[in-house]
Amino acid sequence: MSAVIIDGNAIASALRAEWKVRAESLKEQGIQPGLAVVIVGDNQASSIYVRNKARACRETGIYSEVHEFPESASENEVLHHIHELNENPKIHGILVQLPLPRHFEDKKLISYIAVEKDVDGFHFNNIGALVTGNAVFPPCTPYGVMKMLEKSGIQVEGQHAVVVGRSNIVGKPMALMLLEKNATVTICTSKTRDLAGHTGRADILVVATGKPKMITADMVKPNATVIDVGINRMPNGKLAGDVDFDSVKEKAGYITPVPGGVGPMTIAMLLRNTIEAASRVQAGALSRINTVNK
Ligand code: GUN
Repeated sequence: MSAVIIDGNAIASALRAEWKVRAESLKEQGIQPGLAVVIVGDNQASSIYVRNKARACRETGIYSEVHEFPESASENEVLHHIHELNENPKIHGILVQLPLPRHFEDKKLISYIAVEKDVDGFHFNNIGALVTGNAVFPPCTPYGVMKMLEKSGIQVEGQHAVVVGRSNIVGKPMALMLLEKNATVTICTSKTRDLAGHTGRADILVVATGKPKMITADMVKPNATVIDVGINRMPNGKLAGDVDFDSVKEKAGYITPVPGGVGPMTIAMLLRNTIEAASRVQAGALSRINTVNK
């Protein structure tokens, strides 16, 4: 029997309707959530992602700014700009689109973002919070995956989850979030021996490798939940995930498509984190007023 296809567009759009109400309510209280996206260089895929993020903000009632820098920009120039955004009260969330050009150090730029505006959840402090189960801004893609599992009624506790890919953006935080929900977690890398042996034991398989269609049906346990984080542009111009959708859907219990799976969830969770950042400012303002009035 063919797998249930998890519709990321539908789940994301329901969540976005909820976030919109929250954003409007904050705006009525005098704080319109605001997101600044910083993009350096002319990576085509990044430009499309950033455009989509800005559009999603507009549709949700979130104020947004896109700050574009040429590839030739210096690290100092961008750091200075981040510093200004940290001080800007209209901006509650700052995101530096990755990947950055080679002469930039991701870690350095991200560490300059104010922790309370790091809506990507990539700052060392936010990663520390995630590791200890106290995340305020869970990284958007794995957070979106967790939401998809939850909304699809897929049990995580006690399940064997296998994450293929160990990136800081997806693989590592994904493993931590699954662990937090009491899954038994295996992380596979490009050096893992007998990859199919591991993936074939997964009740929940999350793939984030950037290698088109690398997971085939013979690598998947019957009825497994297969979550495909990959988005690859194929020579024919079409998009494909890291999972061979056509064959795997005949064996899995649940599967996410590409496009229309994890992608829209990442954006939805970015909106959530931005609204959360603004609500925290609002809560801080309220508690200051209450203190003054006491
Ligand atoms: N590039 C690909 N995914 C992401 C993401 O979630 N955040 C940022 N900042 N850059 C990305």
